[in-house]
Amino acid sequence: MSMISDLIRKCRSYRRFFQEVEISHSDLLEMVNNARLSASGRNSQSLKYYISSDDETNRKIFPSLAWAGYYKDWPGPIEGERPSAYIIMVNDTEITNNYFCDHGIAAQSMLLTAVEKGFGGCIIASVSREKLRQELSIPQRFEIVQVIALGKPKEIVEIEPLGPNGDFKYWRDENQVHHVPKRSLEEIVLSIGNPT
Ligand SMILES: Cc1cc2nc3c(=O)[nH]c(=O)nc-3n(C[C@H](O)[C@H](O)[C@H](O)COP(=O)(O)O)c2cc1C
Repeated sequence: MSMISDLIRKCRSYRRFFQEVEISHSDLLEMVNNARLSASGRNSQSLKYYISSDDETNRKIFPSLAWAGYYKDWPGPIEGERPSAYIIMVNDTEITNNYFCDHGIAAQSMLLTAVEKGFGGCIIASVSREKLRQELSIPQRFEIVQVIALGKPKEIVEIEPLGPNGDFKYWRDENQVHHVPKRSLEEIVLSIGNPT
């Protein structure tokens, strides 16, 4: 398997971490730098980033995040298994209100960088934005887009085919292994013309 395919396979959404394993500021900066170098609609580059890797700030961020919506009985990682760092992605509205799909591309660049360094993370779009803004005194100028939770993954995540009846919900087994169904290549490649 090529390096990039291997990296993308490992680049899963991780939600339980070895909280005591820190990520250095230079590693976090490298993640943001790779987001900086990624594609941007109209090249406006309006996304900016707050980096948190200290316990006090991390504690202010965590309560504003919603984890794994399909796990109704799981309120998110327990103390000790929480992210050791966060990158809060904001949009600078003084540059533009339209960041197209820059946020997804930037998030993937950061997560791939994290995975290459032996870390992992999760995109959290389900954020109590006003609560987080108040906790961190984020100016109105910056629209909170999403939060990237980061750490040293403590969980095994396995990719598998869709479940019966095309069920795409992720699920956790009795050993706490997180299973992520993915549609097959055959299902998603729509032929046109006569591909060989
Ligand atoms: C735009 C976007 C928003 C997401 N928001 C959340 C979220 O708020 N909370 C969460 O636990 N996971 C969130 N995720 C992670 C998805 O649940 C995850 O990508 C999906 O289950 C597939 O798993 P995989 O990332 O390992 O392929 C989000 C992912 C994306 C792309």
